[in-house]
Amino acid sequence: MTDASENRVPADAPGEEIVTDDAASVEVPEGAQPDIVPGEDPPLVEGAESEREIEVEVGEKLVEVKNLTIRFGGLTALDDVSFDIKRGEILGLIGPNGAGKTTCFNAMTGVYKPTSGDVLLEGQSVKGRKQHQITRLGFARTFQNIRLFGEMTALENVVVGLDARHRTSVPGALLRLPRHVREEKSSVDRAMALLDFVGIAQHAQKRSRDLSYGSQRRLEIARALGTDPKLLCLDEPAAGFNPAEKEDLMALIRSIRDEGYTVLLIEHDMKLVMGVTDRIVVLEFGKKIADDLPAAIRNDPRVIAAYLGVPEDDVA
Ligand SMILES: Nc1ncnc2c1ncn2[C@@H]1O[C@H](COP(=O)(O)OP(=O)(O)O)[C@@H](O)[C@H]1O
Ligand SMILES: [Mg+2]
Repeated sequence: MTDASENRVPADAPGEEIVTDDAASVEVPEGAQPDIVPGEDPPLVEGAESEREIEVEVGEKLVEVKNLTIRFGGLTALDDVSFDIKRGEILGLIGPNGAGKTTCFNAMTGVYKPTSGDVLLEGQSVKGRKQHQITRLGFARTFQNIRLFGEMTALENVVVGLDARHRTSVPGALLRLPRHVREEKSSVDRAMALLDFVGIAQHAQKRSRDLSYGSQRRLEIARALGTDPKLLCLDEPAAGFNPAEKEDLMALIRSIRDEGYTVLLIEHDMKLVMGVTDRIVVLEFGKKIADDLPAAIRNDPRVIAAYLGVPEDDVA
């Protein structure tokens, strides 16, 4: 079960393994105290300590995928796919292998240019933007195959991705960070708080290549959160996990949403997705075949048919 898109390194990415192009352009700060101006954090908003700290109500459209088509030569990997992502929800993107899930992420995050159609974040098109500009727009992602700076510590991996915008005064951006993270003043403290949030603070000083597979997956999530995304895209974050580890990870994803993030979750395992998502979009052979609440997806004959032929465990 190889995954063609993941085996191709984007043209502008370094040849080294496990390195993202975004992170690669960032210098590791000496002493890891860059651009921090103590005391410049805007005061926390009164009454912002509600359980779900989102800026606006759930339900407002955050992302629009509009008639997105991606062709690779004669192969149509995505065929006129449209769906919305609402602020504050966990949207599942599911489908059999090769359905176009990763391709959809790649188009959203600027790895692939749409053949036609568009992706809008808060009304702003990704078209014509480079990947780091798209990160800046507010998309962050993890990869189906882990990409980290292997020689750096876990802590450094998060520090290099931290978004300097925190310092500039965007209270909305601050509100999206987990509460205890946003209260921290230095990059190191923030990165530590993110490691703590994803449950691997005890490994902060280990080289990331020496971490267990599960911890590396969590580290990727911490790093993605450090860019202060409006949308966090997770590409099969539980791949290779045992059932207990999968449950733990789903709990983490729920807590990420509860902190006010919007999450797009690619997952092959339908049972897993059912338990954590608010809504599910189903792709098959590059086409959207369903877009509904988990309970309806579970009983959708087209979805069930699409999943026939995969191991029974993968079907809820
Ligand atoms: N860069 C690429 N070049 C050619 N074909 C690709 C490329 N990326 C993906 N594909 C093809 O597009 C289809 C969808 O792939 P992908 O999005 O990775 O599926 P999924 O993530 O749902 O398993 C597959 O047939 C795959 O082989
Ligand atoms: Mg994939």
